Amino acid sequence: MDRIILAIESSCDETSAAIIRNDEVLSNVISSQTIHEQYGGVIPELASRAHLQAISLIVDKAMKDSGKEYSELTSIAVTTQPGLAGALLVGSSFAKGLGLKLGIPVIPVHHIEGHIYSGMIEHAECDFPFIALIVSGGHTSIFLVRSFGDEVILGSTKDDAAGEAFDKIGKMLGLGYPAGPRIDALAKEGNPKAYVFPRALMHEQHYDFSFSGLKTSVRYFLQREFPQGISNEAILKDICASVQEAIIEVLIHKLFRASKEHRIKNIIVAGGVSANSRLREALQAASQKRPVNVFLPKLSYCMDNAAMIGFLGSLKLKYLGEEAFHSLQFTVNPRSIRTERTSS
Ligand code: KG4
Ligand code: ZN
Repeated sequence: MDRIILAIESSCDETSAAIIRNDEVLSNVISSQTIHEQYGGVIPELASRAHLQAISLIVDKAMKDSGKEYSELTSIAVTTQPGLAGALLVGSSFAKGLGLKLGIPVIPVHHIEGHIYSGMIEHAECDFPFIALIVSGGHTSIFLVRSFGDEVILGSTKDDAAGEAFDKIGKMLGLGYPAGPRIDALAKEGNPKAYVFPRALMHEQHYDFSFSGLKTSVRYFLQREFPQGISNEAILKDICASVQEAIIEVLIHKLFRASKEHRIKNIIVAGGVSANSRLREALQAASQKRPVNVFLPKLSYCMDNAAMIGFLGSLKLKYLGEEAFHSLQFTVNPRSIRTERTSS
């Protein structure tokens, strides 16, 4: 029998729903909350309210786009950790209520694991073992994934995540929130060698990252060189390109070292920052020179999305069986011990 899964993602500021048939994405609707732009960052209370307002509409649209009926659903997958507590509660309460009504199992899904396995959507040739670099607004970690569910963290950021560095530096440059895509666009016409910013921990033997020093260095640089602000567009583009290069160089250096040292050929890079065009380009170029295969999710599976949650839900059913998901007693967990553990 086909697995027809409704997936729900509401961990931060995207309300998303998707329908998955076995391993195939039939629909994937993402609604990004714009209310946070005026505050320069996500306001948790406002995020919960916006999810509550949007969720039934988004789920309805995902059903309609897929051509499936509610009565055809065989299970529901929902993000339960990590994320904003109130935001996670909206998605998981909705999933539990609908699961009860339809009499179908509800599968709790870890958001970061969702990002990890998103590299396998449309890349069935990506097999275990693989190395995964997850780069998003909340996380930057390298995982060794030996088999399904066996994920070991090789290293994580000790402070800011890579996406957070893009966003915080973008805020200093007056680029709004989230600034990652804006920096990406401006950097396309800038010189990445115009300014030299620090590449923290790049040559340390571990796989941990640190991006808060870069943020501080850019702040001092701006105060020193441009106390009146930047009025020249070309300079802004050069700064964006130079900052972006500093972040990307460290990510790529550590990722390929992990692949080499662990002798793993398959590499997945996922999470919001994996949408970065320079990172994607640099990964492709670097992979041509090495005996590795790099798998990147398509853009709509890079940012927070329910398709990846449903895809992982489907894998969980395949590997663990439906019996594992009949209890509705799971709760949400805003912080995730697994993703916070770092190799020190
Ligand atoms: O995975 P995601 O949607 O949410 C989290 O789980 O955090 O990632 C969002 C992050 C934001 O920090 C955003 O600025 C960054 O991904 N981002 C980018 C790009 N698109 C999104 N960073 C750099 N370049 C991009 N093109
Ligand atoms: Zn995410």
